Amino acid sequence: MGGCFSKPKPVEVKIEVVLPEKERAKEEMSPNGKASPLVYKVNGTARHYHLEEHPITINPYQNVKDVVEASVCHVKDLENGQMREVDLGCGKALLIKENGDYYAMGHKCPHYGAPLVKGVLSKGRVRCPWHGACFSIGTGDIEDFPGLDSLPKFQVKIEKEKVYIRASKQALLTQRRTKVMAKCISLSNYNISSTNVLIIGAGAAGLVCAETLRQEGFSDRIVMCTMDRHLPYDRPKLSKSMDSHLDQITLRPKEFFRTNDIEVLTETQVAAVDIKNKIAVFKDGFKMDYNKLLIATGNTPKALSCKGKEVENVFNIRTPEDANRVVKLASSKNAVIVGASFLGMEVAAYLTEKAHSVSVVELEEVPFKKFFGEKVGQALMKMFENNRVKFYMQTEVSELREQEGKLKEVVLKSGKVLRADVCVIGIGASPATGFLKQSGINIDSKGFIVVNKMMQTNIPGVFAAGDAVTFPLALRNNKKVNIPHWQMAHMHGRIAALNMLAHGTEISTVPYLWTAVFGKSLRYAGHGEGFDDVVFQGDLDELKFVAFYTKNEEVIAVASMNYDPIVSKVAEVMASGRAIRKRDVELFVRHGKTGDMSWLTGKGS
Ligand SMILES: Cc1cc2nc3c(=O)[nH]c(=O)nc-3n(C[C@H](O)[C@H](O)[C@H](O)COP(=O)(O)OP(=O)(O)OC[C@H]3O[C@@H](n4cnc5c(N)ncnc54)[C@H](O)[C@@H]3O)c2cc1C
Ligand code: FES
Repeated sequence: MGGCFSKPKPVEVKIEVVLPEKERAKEEMSPNGKASPLVYKVNGTARHYHLEEHPITINPYQNVKDVVEASVCHVKDLENGQMREVDLGCGKALLIKENGDYYAMGHKCPHYGAPLVKGVLSKGRVRCPWHGACFSIGTGDIEDFPGLDSLPKFQVKIEKEKVYIRASKQALLTQRRTKVMAKCISLSNYNISSTNVLIIGAGAAGLVCAETLRQEGFSDRIVMCTMDRHLPYDRPKLSKSMDSHLDQITLRPKEFFRTNDIEVLTETQVAAVDIKNKIAVFKDGFKMDYNKLLIATGNTPKALSCKGKEVENVFNIRTPEDANRVVKLASSKNAVIVGASFLGMEVAAYLTEKAHSVSVVELEEVPFKKFFGEKVGQALMKMFENNRVKFYMQTEVSELREQEGKLKEVVLKSGKVLRADVCVIGIGASPATGFLKQSGINIDSKGFIVVNKMMQTNIPGVFAAGDAVTFPLALRNNKKVNIPHWQMAHMHGRIAALNMLAHGTEISTVPYLWTAVFGKSLRYAGHGEGFDDVVFQGDLDELKFVAFYTKNEEVIAVASMNYDPIVSKVAEVMASGRAIRKRDVELFVRHGKTGDMSWLTGKGS
């Protein structure tokens, strides 16, 4: 690669790009080269619409000719291991140099539009700085998630020491799948109550499974069912952009499912599975035969069990309707959030701009203590308090009081009575697997479906994925874990699909998650369960830090705020299979950014 186009054609557009001035160039260089971290406002007032929470709605290319060819830089402008955003005249491209070869592809992550130039380039792929999606530099294909699409890939040629990029209109304007989706050919002998693949659940895991099957050439019937009223949507947005309309968060339009013959049965609940006869029994009595089954039913939010739990205006945030309604009810009113979970804290943050008061009730002493550790939890709590969220810690709800059927007060076990017009419950969830109890599918004591590295259950032909499963995590010596996060659900769905097609693919991924509050993101990679120490770099009070979670002498997870792309860097090291030693990280911290970073680059011992 990096050489010539196969067949030189007449050039229609040729743009001599003026290289940006020094300062700007610095800003656009990759962190592998000379990145400057993103600048965030730390102590400012709440700004909920974080740049990265906007979906990409507009194609970044404008006024595109049939073929675009641009001279984008001099060969000397880019060193090995560097990336740069370059101008094509109709929009930008990401130019990459690795091992002497040049590559060019789309510059924005198809998930939420992150500038990939600020991400991490390592051995043939780029990892997004925001939520960790990975793209092959050779093909533009998505290799790790979140997000559903791949990047457009452009041709590069070198002529007289200059680097040229060439792109067709189609490459620039078409949303790119990894492979062309197969057509369903089995519908001629259509039997409504029989499908080849049945997917129970239309969340991230179910959708990615269906799409992967079609991308891999599967041309038989696929039926996906969901208890939801809607086609799959971006669930993480529900607590971050609570008043989004459904069409702003829908993952694929109706036509997509029609074109690709993926049937979605909405408002449909599977009540039991007869694995011996390969039949799913629906709540209304309808039965469907299947050949292969994916169970991707996610989880069910836990409810309060106190007095008054059935009063009106108490919500779990599971649907766009829930989220929209809470915002409406909270406007200039009093909102109480029960549980300082990811969901609870995101909702609390969102409502501070709308509500008269926002209170959080939590059993623990500090939010997120188990997950992020006490210090990070305290720093986050302070940020919330500075944004006028009031915490009631180490207590729980004893009663929800109503007036004319509607919530009026939340009574705490401590005796405190909070005025409340709306209440959101975020006290955790349990796997939605109750309907499988008698099925013979292996379920553990907590209700999770047990799968192997290929997402297979103990029953041949039955796969499970997403929030509802425990699976062996290679990163932690194949310990069985449940990781209820968006990226992982995507990856599970993909692995399940590949193994339905007998590809024999084992899961190999670094868990990556994020939460976004007050316009800032906290990113996290790895699996920190059971950490025994935390090594910090940066300033927790300023919310500009990186925290390395260690167990014995090894780093098992990392979290950061305002320190991009450190989490993506660490995720790439973990993905390469290299262990990160605690003492290397301590050295790095002791000497600041000038410390020994060989553990990040892999060039050291
Ligand atoms: C408000 C909110 C915010 C979140 N924010 C983040 C975040 O910022 N980052 C992150 O990494 N993760 C986040 N998550 C978690 C993330 O959304 C989940 O990990 C992900 O949705 C799991 O995907 P899934 O496919 O396993 O299940 P789900 O997305 O939960 O989908 C389950 C599907 O199964 C269907 N179903 C269940 N039971 C049945 C049945 N018996 N019959 C038929 N259908 C059934 C449901 O209707 C649904 O379609 C958030 C979750 C919520 C609720
Ligand atoms: S914007 Fe790239 S992974 Fe989310």
